[in-house]
Amino acid sequence: MIVAAGKGERAGGGMPKQFRSIAGKPLVAHAYDRLAAHPRIDAVLVVGDEGPLRAALGERAPLGIVPGGASRRLSVRAGLDAIETLGGADVVLIHDAARPFTPAAVIDRLLTALEASPGAVPALPVADTLARHGATLGDVVDRDALVRVQTPQAFRFGDIMTSHRAWQGDDEPTDDAQMVRAAGFAVAAVAGDAMLEKITRPEDFAAAEARLGQRSF
Ligand code: C5P
Repeated sequence: MIVAAGKGERAGGGMPKQFRSIAGKPLVAHAYDRLAAHPRIDAVLVVGDEGPLRAALGERAPLGIVPGGASRRLSVRAGLDAIETLGGADVVLIHDAARPFTPAAVIDRLLTALEASPGAVPALPVADTLARHGATLGDVVDRDALVRVQTPQAFRFGDIMTSHRAWQGDDEPTDDAQMVRAAGFAVAAVAGDAMLEKITRPEDFAAAEARLGQRSF
């Protein structure tokens, strides 16, 4: 599943970032192609506005396009409900359209980890010094104890449905793994990839284009 229902306002550009192009192709189409090309992915469902998504995806044939919700969590939930209505799945990978270049090796690692765990996420170490902040700089936080968590995130379908239905947090979660953990399921971390950096701000487009030029999948 690709969630592409956000407004993407921090990225600028006059349209939601998932519809902006890199190398002549909208981000959501890049994201779609990387998932659809993987031999172990049977179908791709996209969450977001149907008209712009059909235009961006062109000839591609998603399993479905379903409207998103007011938060990322609700957009994912809409996609999960649609998959369930369509007969369910063994495993679902939940992915942000804002991370357009998924290496096949990351999907391989996630699916291998899922054989022994209800969930698996790609994660990268933190390179910068991290500190709390307020009016002035606060204490440094041990970066060796932290990772940066990316998508796609892989889950057994029954467990992710259970987790979404059980979620009661006050704050909107920024990913699905935190809901799965809150429901009591273990989530494994596999090696992430710099190609999966999220496009959030205007300058991220040039960096993503440069990454694409340096890497063949
Ligand atoms: O805004 P952010 O980059 O954190 O969004 C992550 C992903 O979640 C994006 O692909 C965005 O389109 C999606 N999203 C969504 N529905 C929302 C908010 C975000 O599908 N209501």
